[in-house]
Amino acid sequence: MLWNRWNRYQQYLGRWPLVVLGLALFGDLALAQPVTPAQHGNNTPPAKAAVCAACHGPDGNSINPIWPNLAGQHAKYLQQQLQDYKTGQRANPIMAGNVAPLTPEDMIQIANYFAGLPAKSALANPAQVDQGRSLYRAGKTQTGTPACAGCHGPDGSGNAPAAFPRLAGQNTPYIALQLRAYRDGSRSGTAQAKIMAGVAKALTDQDIEAVSSYVQGLQALRPADLQ
Ligand code: HEC
Ligand code: HEC
Repeated sequence: MLWNRWNRYQQYLGRWPLVVLGLALFGDLALAQPVTPAQHGNNTPPAKAAVCAACHGPDGNSINPIWPNLAGQHAKYLQQQLQDYKTGQRANPIMAGNVAPLTPEDMIQIANYFAGLPAKSALANPAQVDQGRSLYRAGKTQTGTPACAGCHGPDGSGNAPAAFPRLAGQNTPYIALQLRAYRDGSRSGTAQAKIMAGVAKALTDQDIEAVSSYVQGLQALRPADLQ
């Protein structure tokens, strides 16, 4: 209910609540200008990326919040995930079918293409911001859960060379699904995924809901290609 009211309020006031929430979350960074990822001059979609738009959206922002946005995600991370779907180390029947026709060269081109599209921003649920921010920034000492910000950055922009994904603006339902998959071990087939399986093992359902909402509302201040 609060969420519906927030949505109506947001429609009424346009982008202001986003700015206000941004100020509340990033007091220390509030004066920085938001930056969108670089839009490459000639970012022509590779032919084999056409089919991806059906789910991930023509602009790389998915049409269902249970599916991930790809726009503005780091190319190295995207490429790695495509390979992991191909080898089956990241198991998902829908994506296994979609990567089947892709060569390693296609994967590089497609990853670069989506990385160069501007990411959309979104809002957090204000009721979950305190819990989400605390977990994101400080972790949970009692369970040895590290701060998410340590790897994904205080603004959720990730770490491109390390292939730590950008989380800022990613859809809450998709994030929550992935954290559950890391926690129950169903996404733990690679060394990278094992890092997250370790991080997620002590998260409660409430932690997952709160932090997933919080990251959706983060505004990445650094463009992907400046990291
Ligand atoms: C029928 C819908 C559908 C189509 C078409 C589709 N995807 Fe996906 N994609 C998904 C779903 C669902 C997931 C999440 C799967 C999971 O939980 O592992 C996903 C996940 C991904 C991820 C992982 C993103 C992340 O943040 O980890 C990448 C990368 C990706 N898709 C790229 C593509 C590309 C490239 C194409 C086209 C060649 C494509 N997808 C076509 C539904 C689709
Ligand atoms: C030690 C570094 C590290 C820490 C700390 C960390 N992560 Fe991650 N995170 C990673 C890596 C590496 C990946 C990519 C894993 C893979 O390939 O499956 C990742 C992936 C993810 C994904 C999947 C994104 C996608 O697009 O599918 C989510 C969601 C996520 N992390 C959330 C969190 C949250 C929430 C926390 C804090 C509770 C956190 N991470 C802490 C390194 C870290």
